[in-house]
Amino acid sequence: MPKITIAIDGFSSTGKSTVAKQLAKHLGYVYVDTGAMYRSVTYYAMENGLINDDGFNVKGLIHQLPKIKISFKFNKSVGFAEVYLNGINIEKKIRTLEVSGFVSKVAAISEVRHKLVEQQQEMGKNKGVVMDGRDIGTVVFPKADLKLFMTASAETRAKRRYDELINRGDEVKYEDVIKNVQERDYLDSNREDSPLFKAKDAIEIDNSNMTLEEQFDKLLNLVKMTL
Ligand code: C5P
Repeated sequence: MPKITIAIDGFSSTGKSTVAKQLAKHLGYVYVDTGAMYRSVTYYAMENGLINDDGFNVKGLIHQLPKIKISFKFNKSVGFAEVYLNGINIEKKIRTLEVSGFVSKVAAISEVRHKLVEQQQEMGKNKGVVMDGRDIGTVVFPKADLKLFMTASAETRAKRRYDELINRGDEVKYEDVIKNVQERDYLDSNREDSPLFKAKDAIEIDNSNMTLEEQFDKLLNLVKMTL
């Protein structure tokens, strides 16, 4: 069967990655969580004093970009690839509300985007890939065989992210989570370089009232229609 490129874009916490992972596993495709890559650069900046109480040293981060190596390694026990920064597994460290609070500012920097987009295009060049993010169907793979745009109400999304953080044991307030989700949506949709928007040929799926199983079935049907 021919392999295709599947691009999944959408706002924060629309459950893109959960269903994307399932789909990739089922199809035997590579799954790439591009949000994890922007989060990793943000984590690097925080760990290296480029983001602190004094502000954000954008020039310093751009200067240090060549030192940042992001990679993914499949973890059999969890069933998906985890993200590594300069050889160290940082999968759990990048999902905090602190990283979420800065990531959209880091993702607005063109030099950061250029570096990560290049790597993403390389990872997906042989097709057989499910990639999720904000600009996959518009910038990374504008010719993707199947483009999906996931949406859900802001409340549904904030509740999902809140439950995820609480289940991990993080102490967070719901108000802070919803504020972060709305702030990121605004910044991601209004930045100059590669803003988030639905590609003309993307299929929109509002999953506010859909179970994971229903989402998976819908996506799989769309894949079958594309093949
Ligand atoms: O998908 P996730 O919520 O983990 O993404 C974190 C942030 O990374 C987004 O809010 C956005 O600022 C940035 N991002 C991006 N382009 C992508 C993927 C993520 O700008 N392709």
